[in-house]
Amino acid sequence: MTLLGVRDLVTAYGSVEALHGVSFHVDEGEIVALLGANGAGKTTALRTISGLLRPRSGEVRFAGDRIDTRPAHEIVRLGLTQVPEGRWIFTLMTVDENLRLGAYAEPRVPREALDRVFALFPRLAERRGQLAGTLSGGEQQMLAMARALMTRPRLLLLDEPSMGLAPVLVRQIFHTIAEINREGTTVLLVEQNANTALRLARRAYVLENGRIVLEGPGAELARNEAVRRAYLGVGARPRGREGARERPPAP
Ligand SMILES: Nc1ncnc2c1ncn2[C@@H]1O[C@H](COP(=O)(O)OP(=O)(O)O)[C@@H](O)[C@H]1O
Ligand SMILES: [Mg+2]
Repeated sequence: MTLLGVRDLVTAYGSVEALHGVSFHVDEGEIVALLGANGAGKTTALRTISGLLRPRSGEVRFAGDRIDTRPAHEIVRLGLTQVPEGRWIFTLMTVDENLRLGAYAEPRVPREALDRVFALFPRLAERRGQLAGTLSGGEQQMLAMARALMTRPRLLLLDEPSMGLAPVLVRQIFHTIAEINREGTTVLLVEQNANTALRLARRAYVLENGRIVLEGPGAELARNEAVRRAYLGVGARPRGREGARERPPAP
């Protein structure tokens, strides 16, 4: 079943268009990666989906319903939550307070939601009374993800969760994303770390200058020459048939 459907999305900042008709979908249960260079429009796409930006045209459907005209807080209530780029935790509040704020959409903080995030992130459980600003970068990213999970979303949007983290922490974050997905949460993952993202994602899309230019199964995109050259930092090498489908340039 299609959980998220994005069609012909056009989003602009004033007179400058950042997305020029973007279409893609995420099926229930999938991890889908959205790749692209800096400035390609990844964050704009996520912010439009979660209701923080209004599209100029096109539509976003979540579980079949149009959400592109709804306010962000209603979209969260429907089960779609975004972890923004750059963490955005409350540094002068404790870990525990940050998590309770994450559940603001519900009148009472559900005990199971807290138990679940502490099971996923044992380090946060150990530090639940500590001010969030005193956590390491990796722990702050975990807290941002944990806080988003407090809403018990059906779809989690992650904007560059591995940004600025040491390799060992990157592995840990990706491992946790896989676990979150196994427990039933669908994931749309924006990443610069294409190598790891493509290993994790069932399918992926490549965004270039506000347009989707490539799509395919993660494993096949990882073998695609254009992707390898642009995002995986590897030179071209001869290859057989590619599974990834190139989209014709938009008119
Ligand atoms: N607040 C903003 N005001 C004006 N232009 C913006 C704003 N945010 C992003 N842009 C522009 O929109 C384009 C896409 O940016 P963004 O979605 O942040 O890309 P990405 O997340 O892929 O790096 C870029 O050209 C960027 O300069
Ligand atoms: Mg971005």
